[in-house]
Amino acid sequence: MYVARKIAELRKLLCDEKKKGKSIGFVPTMGYLHEGHLELVRHSKKDNDITVVSIFVNPIQFGPNEDLRSYPRDEASDLKKLEASGVDYAFLPTVDEMYPEELLTFVQVDRLSEPMCGAFRPGHFRGVATVVAKLFNIVQPDRAYFGMKDYQQLKVIEKMVKDLNFPVQIVAVQTVREANGLAMSSRNSYLSEEERKQASSIYRALLKGKELYEAGVRDAEAIKNAVYDELSKVPTIKVQYVELRDAETLEDIKRVEKPAVLALAVFLGKARLIDNIIIG
Ligand code: PAF
Repeated sequence: MYVARKIAELRKLLCDEKKKGKSIGFVPTMGYLHEGHLELVRHSKKDNDITVVSIFVNPIQFGPNEDLRSYPRDEASDLKKLEASGVDYAFLPTVDEMYPEELLTFVQVDRLSEPMCGAFRPGHFRGVATVVAKLFNIVQPDRAYFGMKDYQQLKVIEKMVKDLNFPVQIVAVQTVREANGLAMSSRNSYLSEEERKQASSIYRALLKGKELYEAGVRDAEAIKNAVYDELSKVPTIKVQYVELRDAETLEDIKRVEKPAVLALAVFLGKARLIDNIIIG
């Protein structure tokens, strides 16, 4: 595995691969890799000749009171995992390499960025879309892989790619879960053993909502209330939002008539956790 830290270096190497007719799969990450990331890598390796993984904790997607400084990092362990997974190129730029001067150009995906996490993390999706656009321009992948745990991010990136004609196919990959249902996330490292056990109620709550739908309930309030009820059984869980929205437009819905995303964000100990399930 080649580890590149400079944009020009990676571009040259990937340009040579393209000249040889190789297809390129790309997995953008912020590191502290877990099975969820490695599942994205497995998909990329299956679909492409070459797999590139970036590790970059992107400062512009964190709010002033968020966890940019404490975000978990372990470069040595990440590189070992990528090497063992058969990744061809790891790209680990510094902040100065990605943002050498004041950035005046941003990618803003309206509407899709506004509700759900966007309502509580102003500027977050603008930061995500901007860095992903930069990474796409650097790597120029044929396919890029995103986990469904970050469902709103996935929809924002899909729309950006469509609106701005990026020649890349976005591949959505199912959320990978711990045995107790907890969606894998680098931020799970903030949880104590006890909190990890309590966190199993997050997915259980989403499944309760889905069960109601499957039993014939279509009223969005009733489904969301079932999720709240389940979460309220664990007093340490503080709910930020539970939403049921159109799975494509992310518009609020009153009844589930088309595929919808049942999504939530909660605080547990030091962690803010998100998860979702598709119903309908
Ligand atoms: O999902 C993430 O890890 C990040 O938001 C991403 C897509 C790598 C952009 O920084």
